[in-house]
Amino acid sequence: MSELQVNIAGVSFKNPVLAASGTFGFGREYGRLYDISKLGGICCKAVTLEERQGNPPPRIAETPSGMLNSVGLQNMGVDYFLGSELPFMRRAKAAVIVNIAGRTAEEYRAVAEKLNDSDIAMIELNISCPNVKEGGAAFGVNAASAANVTRQVRRHCKKPLMVKLSPNAANIAEIAAAVESEGADAVSLINTITGMRIDLKSRRPVLHTNTGGLSGPAVFPVAVRMVWEVYKRVKIPVVGAGGIASWQDAAEMMMAGASAVQVGSAMFLDPYAPLKIIDGLRDYAAREKLQNISEIVGSVKAYE
Ligand SMILES: Cc1cc2nc3c(=O)[nH]c(=O)nc-3n(C[C@H](O)[C@H](O)[C@H](O)COP(=O)(O)O)c2cc1C
Repeated sequence: MSELQVNIAGVSFKNPVLAASGTFGFGREYGRLYDISKLGGICCKAVTLEERQGNPPPRIAETPSGMLNSVGLQNMGVDYFLGSELPFMRRAKAAVIVNIAGRTAEEYRAVAEKLNDSDIAMIELNISCPNVKEGGAAFGVNAASAANVTRQVRRHCKKPLMVKLSPNAANIAEIAAAVESEGADAVSLINTITGMRIDLKSRRPVLHTNTGGLSGPAVFPVAVRMVWEVYKRVKIPVVGAGGIASWQDAAEMMMAGASAVQVGSAMFLDPYAPLKIIDGLRDYAAREKLQNISEIVGSVKAYE
């Protein structure tokens, strides 16, 4: 076993650095720059039952130390994914985590069922997208509805199931416990935090949807805190995301309790960020004489 290899819910990843959903597409663009199989895995852009257009522009705005987006769930639908994107990703030898979304619990279930016989590593149940009117975060901010959609998908899904949690919930650890009790194999967090900007001259919100999701270094301390809270509450593995831009951020997130990390917005600034993070973690593990990077997971010495 190499020092970076990690196991999440029975799935082995060559290292703990995953691409975050929606920031890496299906790997085609980044694949022109480097071998995408070097990443531990790729959480692909959300896939829904039918094709979706996403939200009208403007749907991206810069913020201090981060960005707002309201892309919504733009994608070509699960059948297209299975016929075109997945074969590309498998040819590239990427470990594929499919982020799925729906308007109703039945729609989530239908997407998961279509993936049952495919060659994917894991499903990431996106109950935390803040940028859609129906579904998305509506499921993720309430423990009963988060539990309900997890139960329905779990019953029909043959793949390991990771549920992606919303930081917009009043108590994220409670949602984590609710989905764990319905059979989630892992949780990932955080998705984006709802935010808003206004253009002074026009007095219009800068995003066409008025509000959007904040990501990037600005959210990092919030994400670390939430990962720590969830890690203390559940027994299933926690995958940490939110503002990770360096190997130090990744190590910090792992000390808070993350078994693996997802890198998102940082790649818009530096597409090579995940590779640099992998190298940095490898050097760190050697310097600290760790047999495996997992030794630091949850190792924060919190004050009583
Ligand atoms: C442009 C954009 C699109 C995103 N699309 C999705 C998505 O389809 N599904 C999802 O679960 N998260 C999506 N996210 C959230 C990210 O996966 C990640 O949870 C969040 O951005 C925090 O990580 P970061 O600060 O490293 O970007 C998106 C984020 C951005 C910036």
